[in-house]
Amino acid sequence: MNVMEAIKTRRSIRSYNSQPVEADKLAKVLEAARLAPSASNRQDWKFIVVQDLQMRTKLATACRNQKFISQAPVVIAACSTNPTRTMSSGQPAAAVDLAIAVDHMTLAAAELGLGTCWIGAFDAPAVGKLLGVPDDYAVVHVMLLGYPAESPSATPRKPVSQVICQEKWS
Ligand SMILES: Cc1cc2nc3c(=O)[nH]c(=O)nc-3n(C[C@H](O)[C@H](O)[C@H](O)COP(=O)(O)O)c2cc1C
Repeated sequence: MNVMEAIKTRRSIRSYNSQPVEADKLAKVLEAARLAPSASNRQDWKFIVVQDLQMRTKLATACRNQKFISQAPVVIAACSTNPTRTMSSGQPAAAVDLAIAVDHMTLAAAELGLGTCWIGAFDAPAVGKLLGVPDDYAVVHVMLLGYPAESPSATPRKPVSQVICQEKWS
């Protein structure tokens, strides 16, 4: 599968079967995160891999009670070790850097036949507390990983004419 195929076939998966994710596949997905670019190549991040069912169940509660979260055999918390850093553009580095890393993981997973779901709705202090994240660090994104038990259709995207313009804003 090439990158464009992965981009086109990836879906958010909210139902997983019980088949565990093989260690070598999990390692490949995590490697995609490790190799992701970051502002000034600072790599101010750490990825917590959760496979314990009890913890996944607690995380589901802290993620606004999205029950399907505990069904995913792997839950990855993407954490920043420098959550207050702002780039000169004014944008928050942690959110940007970790979004790139998570997106890399979703595409690597798609290539491996694994499903993912990005979780942005969660109580960050609660998730951080559950996972023992130090107070000056932050959980920025949560991502699920596992074999899909559903094959959702593609969700719609705005047309090119609405989102791309040439040379100047129009
Ligand atoms: C930053 C971000 C946060 C998201 N948070 C959640 C979430 O908390 N729960 C959920 O079920 N889906 C979540 N999603 C998935 C989106 O709903 C999904 O990507 C979007 O509807 C497009 O569908 P697709 O991923 O299948 O293409 C999130 C996606 C992104 C990029």
